[in-house]
Amino acid sequence: MMFRPVVFFFAVVAFASSLVCAAPVAEIATRQIGDIQCNINRLSFVGDIAGLQITLKTLSAQTADDRDPTASAGIQSVTNNISAVQSALGTIAEAILTGQAVPAEARVQVESNLAAAQSTLAEITSADPAVTANLQNAKTQMQNVDLVGSGILVNCK
Ligand SMILES: *[C@@H]1O[C@H](CO)[C@@H](O)[C@H](O)[C@H]1NC(C)=O
Repeated sequence: MMFRPVVFFFAVVAFASSLVCAAPVAEIATRQIGDIQCNINRLSFVGDIAGLQITLKTLSAQTADDRDPTASAGIQSVTNNISAVQSALGTIAEAILTGQAVPAEARVQVESNLAAAQSTLAEITSADPAVTANLQNAKTQMQNVDLVGSGILVNCK
């Protein structure tokens, strides 16, 4: 879990240093301040979304064991939305790393899927206290993902 963000960070740093040679000094300074906040957001997001996905996986197994099709379907839907958020984030990161404008659809995909995931998660209920406890964990993790995801939309342009 700790390994991937670190590799990502070095890839970002390596790429950023390759850009430094190409741009004038003032432009570099402005861009780097924005980039640092953007990269911090992206690194936290990778960790936060991974934590949420682990909880969703546990919930998926628990609701299957409980033979609770309604809760299972809800968890599946949240999981799909979070995968869509993750893949849109990949598109955003790639655009930034290649110096392209971030595609508007990718931003919409992040926003709409985060909103869908959050509202679906809020609707899921269970009689199983272990599930209820994990639903609470997932909600807390979702709030962090949402916060950091919104930061990415603001800081990564
Ligand atoms: C969220 O996931 C569900 C289930 O896969 C899907 O039907 C819905 O369209 C997704 N929401 C958005 C905003 O894409």
